[in-house]
Amino acid sequence: MTGAVRKKGSIRRRLIIQLLGGAALLAILMFVVVRLYARDLAADSQDEILSASVTSILDAAAVRNGTLALDIPYSAFSMLGNVSDDRVFYTVTRNDAFVTGYQDLPTPQQGRISETRFRTATYRDVEIRMVTAARRLSIAGVPEVVEVTVAQTRDGLRQTLNEISRTVAMFGIGFFLLAAFLGVLAAQSAIGPLRQLAGSVSRRGPEDLRPVTARVPEEMAPLVAALNSFMSRLKASLTRSEDLIAEAAHRVRTPLATVRTQAEITLRRVDKPENRQAVREMIRAIDESSRAAGQLLDHAMVSFRSEHLETKGVDLCRLASDAVERLRPMADLRDIDIELTLPGEPQILRGDAILLQSALLNLLDNAIKYSPTDSTVRVVVSGDGTAGRVMIRDSGKGFALGELKTLTQRFVRGGNTSGVVGSGLGLTIADEVARAHGGSLKLENAKEGIGGCASLSFLLASR
Ligand SMILES: Nc1ncnc2c1ncn2[C@@H]1O[C@H](COP(=O)(O)OP(=O)(O)O)[C@@H](O)[C@H]1O
Ligand SMILES: [Mg+2]
Repeated sequence: MTGAVRKKGSIRRRLIIQLLGGAALLAILMFVVVRLYARDLAADSQDEILSASVTSILDAAAVRNGTLALDIPYSAFSMLGNVSDDRVFYTVTRNDAFVTGYQDLPTPQQGRISETRFRTATYRDVEIRMVTAARRLSIAGVPEVVEVTVAQTRDGLRQTLNEISRTVAMFGIGFFLLAAFLGVLAAQSAIGPLRQLAGSVSRRGPEDLRPVTARVPEEMAPLVAALNSFMSRLKASLTRSEDLIAEAAHRVRTPLATVRTQAEITLRRVDKPENRQAVREMIRAIDESSRAAGQLLDHAMVSFRSEHLETKGVDLCRLASDAVERLRPMADLRDIDIELTLPGEPQILRGDAILLQSALLNLLDNAIKYSPTDSTVRVVVSGDGTAGRVMIRDSGKGFALGELKTLTQRFVRGGNTSGVVGSGLGLTIADEVARAHGGSLKLENAKEGIGGCASLSFLLASR
């Protein structure tokens, strides 16, 4: 009876995707920011060392004997060498005229003398960072400007940066994995209460319509409130329909029984054969309607009870012998003998005794109805410890093979019913009962000759 649930997405998946997306974004952001910061830091430190180198060269410039003496101190380049294997270039100019160094070095940034100037340029096809500073010297009484430029390639810088990037990338991935793990845990725990609620509701017995009293997170309170109110309405409506079925059964059967009694009394009083025949016909018609009404009500009851299956231990042997005893008078009327074969021990299954009885009675009723007079109906109960079976076999015409699939449908009767009364509900009831108990109804014809054979199979309760 459970309809297909239409699903749309998954809260867990959505949560996980959002958390993972957030974690990935943060990881990338962290990577970019740290890399930018590291690049600035590395560039600054190179600039600082280059400036120190330029300053030490400028400081070494002196005027001796009226000429410019420039002894470039060893430390000026060694401090640069310490940083990495980067190549170092320099030039010294005096009043913009080349004095020493690399003459083809790109011209430095223009600016004021007092300023230290920085420039990034390309020299000999590689990127270099240039730092320039100048100093005013008075040479032979003439003021002159000595300008020093020191440049260095940036391989070291790039290398450092790459190393930092690698490390940060590792951190980023680690961070992402950790966040992903935590995200999955968070998603799992977020939907845990939902799962618990679903589990506890689906574990309930079919008749258990009590409100959910377990404590649930705030967000789920409206859902549980709605569920509880739905269940209480359902309970009320179920009680109403149960009452209605009982009431209807009573109202239909009681007057029919009264009419039948009256008809029987009349039959005793009437003498004329044709009148007696008419009253007999009347009694037969009353029996038929009473039976049809009974079956209709049985069917309503089966549909109702199947959805609220009561499960108690029921013995198939007891059920079969009860059914046989109940229908024996009807069989006797047609001189039909019912032969019951029971196994040595009880065959217990969990189920609703009233429904199972109704299924058996309907099958046995069919067997008697569709058998020729003066024949035998065989009822055999068997079991193998896991499954139990009741087989009812008659020696009538049997089922029309082409009809087998449709006979269990409501109000469907076969083509072999001429003169036999019925409403087409018996097999429907038997089939519904079987399925409500997880069992099955099988219709076939006896292999060794004529006769229909209907059997009900169920899983037995484990002992
Ligand atoms: N034992 C049987 N032998 C032959 N035909 C049967 C037997 N039981 C049922 N049928 C066929 O299946 C049809 C449906 O059975 P059922 O649902 O009990 O309806 P009803 O007995 O009221 O006709 C019957 O009309 C009949 O054609
Ligand atoms: Mg029937």
